[in-house]
Formats: sequence, C-alpha cells, structure tokens
Amino acid sequence: MHHPDLCIAGAGIIGLSLALELHDRGYPVTVFDQGAPLAESSTAAAGMLAAHDPDNPPELLPLASLSLSLYSNFLDRIHTLSGIRVPFQTHATLQSVPPGTCTAESELTREDLAHLLPALTPSDHRFLLLDEQSVDPRQLAPALLAAVRATNIDLQPHTRVLSTYSIDDAVEITTPNGTIHTAQFINCAGAWAAATSRLSNISVAPRKGQMFSVVLPPSLPLHLVIRTPGIYIVPRTAGPATGRAIIGATVEDIGFDKTVYPANIDRLRTLAATLLPGIANASQLEAWSGLRPATSDGLPLLGVLPTQPNHFIATGHYRNGILLAPATARVMAEFILGEEPSVDLSPFSPARASTQVASP
Ligand code: GLY
Repeated sequence: MHHPDLCIAGAGIIGLSLALELHDRGYPVTVFDQGAPLAESSTAAAGMLAAHDPDNPPELLPLASLSLSLYSNFLDRIHTLSGIRVPFQTHATLQSVPPGTCTAESELTREDLAHLLPALTPSDHRFLLLDEQSVDPRQLAPALLAAVRATNIDLQPHTRVLSTYSIDDAVEITTPNGTIHTAQFINCAGAWAAATSRLSNISVAPRKGQMFSVVLPPSLPLHLVIRTPGIYIVPRTAGPATGRAIIGATVEDIGFDKTVYPANIDRLRTLAATLLPGIANASQLEAWSGLRPATSDGLPLLGVLPTQPNHFIATGHYRNGILLAPATARVMAEFILGEEPSVDLSPFSPARASTQVASP
C-alpha cells in the first residue's frame, strides 16, 4: 500500500521520535531542522523521567504515565536500529514535598534519610522516595540520531522551514532549498514553533534554564536524584559521565538568550550545597543553558491547527520533553493517521483557551 508522505519541522527528541514512529508504521518521513539535530533542549536537559513531580500539572499524568510505560521499548527500538544501548542512570528520586501533602507513611523519616543518603542535610525539607528513572540525554541523542540514520527517514539539518501554506489536502512547505508539497506537516520545532505555525489561542515561547555539572567528590557517592522546587541534583552512574552530577536549573522568561551567568550558577551551587554540603567545593566541569518550549498553561500542544486540517503540532513539552517523547510519538502518530489516541488529547488541543498562567 502506498502511504502519503509526511514532513516534520524540528529534529529534536520530539520530532525524531515521531519520525521513527511514523517510519515504523510504513510512512515516508522527511525531517527539517534549522540547525543540527538534537542540538537544543534535547541535549540541554538533565534527563529525569519525572512523571510524578508534584509541580507537573495534573492533566499531564495520563500522557506521562503512558510515556513511562513505553520507555524501555523506546530504548530497545533505538538499540535495535543503532546498536547503541542507552542505560537508565538512576532508579529513584528523593522528592521534596510541602508539609501536609503526603501521608505520614509515605514521608521519609530523618532516620530513613540518614540511612539512604548519609551526606544529605535535609534542613526543612520533607522527602518522598519516588520510583523514578533518569537517562543521560547526551547518550540518548547520539543513539536516537544513529537510529534515525539507520532508516530511510530523510533528515535535512540546517534547512529551516520558512513558511507553510495549506492547499486543499496538502501543505506547501518552503525552505531555502525550494518549495515542496506534503500530505501532512507536523511542527515539532520546540521553543521556535510559533515562527512556523499560526497559533491563535495558545502559543509557545522559550523559557531558559541555566545549569552546570560537577565531578562528585569520592566522599559523595550519589545514585539517586534529589529534587526540590528550586533545585535538582542528577548523578550520572553509567557511561563516560559516571561520577558527575548535573545541577539545575533556572527558569527564566527572557526570549532566545542562552547566555550563562556565573552569578546564576553560583546561586544554584549554593542551593545544592544546602542539601549536599559536598557540592560546595566540587569541581565544575561545564555550565550551559537550554530553552524549554513553554505554553502559558504549562501543557503541551498536541493536535491539529483549528483551521488547517493537515497542519499538526507537537510541542510545548516544557520541562518534560525527554520523558514525554515516546508517548508523544505514539499519540501523535495515532492522531495523524486517524486512529483513537491512546490518551485523551483534549487537554493538549491547540484550540484550547488558555485558562491559567504557568508560573516560571
Ligand atoms: N527538565 C528539567 C528542567 O526543566 O530544568
């Protein structure tokens, strides 16, 4: 059976995961990116699969739970195609919660914490132990790219989608290389998505996160993530980055500026050291920033544009793009191909009105 072709703008983790899903269903796929694949938030991320972070909007949970259930198969598929096995880095997270938000049985006692992580200074925080994994996006990205390159997906980096125009049952796409027609177009351009799709009710904009990495001192072996509303500390335990920790992150509304400021990094270090004093003098390796694609209500945009039946969008994953990639690929492929999506997509509709403003 001949399948119509599909074009994606954005070769980040969302665009490439969707390309693989559509390819696996037999569809010819082209992916354009204005720069190099996976070069933006997909590799700036810490890689926590934080489906149960209490700061997530509750409407996200069905999509997040689906993604968690798909994650091992997603990594297996990448392994099969690329030969690269991406390991889980951690399997547990110490999550700080405000007083009164958890039952006395689920909250860890001071003794539990001292046993679990003697180096921790819990100060005023109350902690839960979440059964949560993390991956290293810098391992995932090359593996995903190799997987895509092992298929006949047509990946066109450094080729910006300049404009799109819906005509009858096709979309006309213009890039610096010319104009082509595609049966369906999917905008996965992350923080840059608003430049390509006319979004009326709810838009997407960059929200900057600065972060840094350190070498953990031998006195501070860390095998789980520590997360409070203001800071996270994510250790690497497998692969070339073993023994490092990623510490993040700022949350800033200042457009597409990715400048890293030492004063912001120092503040993150100070916050992290209130939990793990050994971080205060840990050697810094790198500092960087990424641009999270944020919507005004904190929920992704997943669906079709109200007045353009062949123009789809999958972006706005904000702090959870690494987590949500497998489920986004699954539900968007189902939606685009006219199947019933595995989760209700109405909370993520591009036609929804913005009812609340996500706090930074
Ligand atoms: N995913 C972690 C962050 O947004 O900082």
